[in-house]
Amino acid sequence: MTVRVGFLGAGLIATFHSKMLKGSGEDVARAGVFDPDPDRAAAFAAASGGFACATEDEVLDSCDAVYVCTWTSEHPRLVSAAVQRGLPVFCEKPLAVDLPAAEALTAEVVASGVVNQCGLVLRRSPAFNLAKALREDPAAGPTMAVVFRDDQYIPTQGQYASTWRADRTKAGAGTLIEHSIHDVDMLEHVIGPVAEVSARSANHHGHAGIEDVMTASLSFADGALGTLTSVWHDVLSRPSLRRVEIFCGSRWIAIEDDWFGPVTWQDPGGPAVTVAGEELVAACTERGIPMPNPDGDFVRAVRDGTPAHPDVTVALRAHRIVDAAYRSAAAGGVPQPV
Ligand SMILES: NC(=O)c1ccc[n+]([C@@H]2O[C@H](COP(=O)([O-])OP(=O)(O)OC[C@H]3O[C@@H](n4cnc5c(N)ncnc54)[C@H](O)[C@@H]3O)[C@@H](O)[C@H]2O)c1
Repeated sequence: MTVRVGFLGAGLIATFHSKMLKGSGEDVARAGVFDPDPDRAAAFAAASGGFACATEDEVLDSCDAVYVCTWTSEHPRLVSAAVQRGLPVFCEKPLAVDLPAAEALTAEVVASGVVNQCGLVLRRSPAFNLAKALREDPAAGPTMAVVFRDDQYIPTQGQYASTWRADRTKAGAGTLIEHSIHDVDMLEHVIGPVAEVSARSANHHGHAGIEDVMTASLSFADGALGTLTSVWHDVLSRPSLRRVEIFCGSRWIAIEDDWFGPVTWQDPGGPAVTVAGEELVAACTERGIPMPNPDGDFVRAVRDGTPAHPDVTVALRAHRIVDAAYRSAAAGGVPQPV
């Protein structure tokens, strides 16, 4: 069965998904695309092979599954419109601008039973999944600590050039919810459940309600401790970069760069081992770590009527940790349970 895919929003991430769909090899046909910026919709349609629509409803009428790739504040309304038609939906992260809205969206999607997936794409990262396997290896011993640093230039400029990311009503807040919700999700995916958060935020750029630094101290349920530092700076020549170090009793693991490493690890008495690129992929294959195309997976789930992953419940969990961090920062760093 050919799956007809529609798009609401024709910006940066919609284009990314469109390219991933093209590369997935799945039987996909392009349906309608709507964006309040008609030039964007037209350019997207021309590049992807779909057609520009004058309304959101036209898109929903034209497809078997829809991607919601608008700025964040529009996600709940558009996901709801899809769900009311029984349409499978891919919703970008964050689900919504705050926790109550993310909870409401999740409840509606889950109750409807539609196939759904969220944009927490690092769940498919070979680098993070290899680090997870190395940490879970019994030879590593207990996980003691994790240091997670994520920095990018403030995405109101450069390739993102999005004014909405400086508007709290559209983005919810700053670097933690808009960008580092990925990191919070990776911390739970790789290390385990977070039990408590203490956080501080700062705002150097002066956009009301948009923090550009967030530091969080995390306690994990299994006793591990961690820190997350998320920064939006102005070094436009620097790409968005993550660096993660995991300290286990008998293994040190480091991840540089989000997808193809390098990943380095070292055990007692042994040399540091580094893999990147094809070697990293081979190390994943050796360990049975799948590396599927997230968009291909979504389309296959739609075609087969099977559950997709990560779904909105995974994103909701990340929202709960983000919310605890914002509550802590507002209370001057007082620890908050998740
Ligand atoms: N998963 C990821 O790694 C990732 C990366 C970037 C962005 N995102 C998320 O994706 C979403 C979009 O980000 P972006 O970088 O593509 O932003 P963008 O500014 O490039 O595109 C957003 C588009 O949505 C359009 N839009 C607004 N309201 C709409 C509506 N009602 N119907 C249709 N279109 C509408 C805007 O006109 C704009 O063209 C955000 O929620 C962002 O957090 C996720």
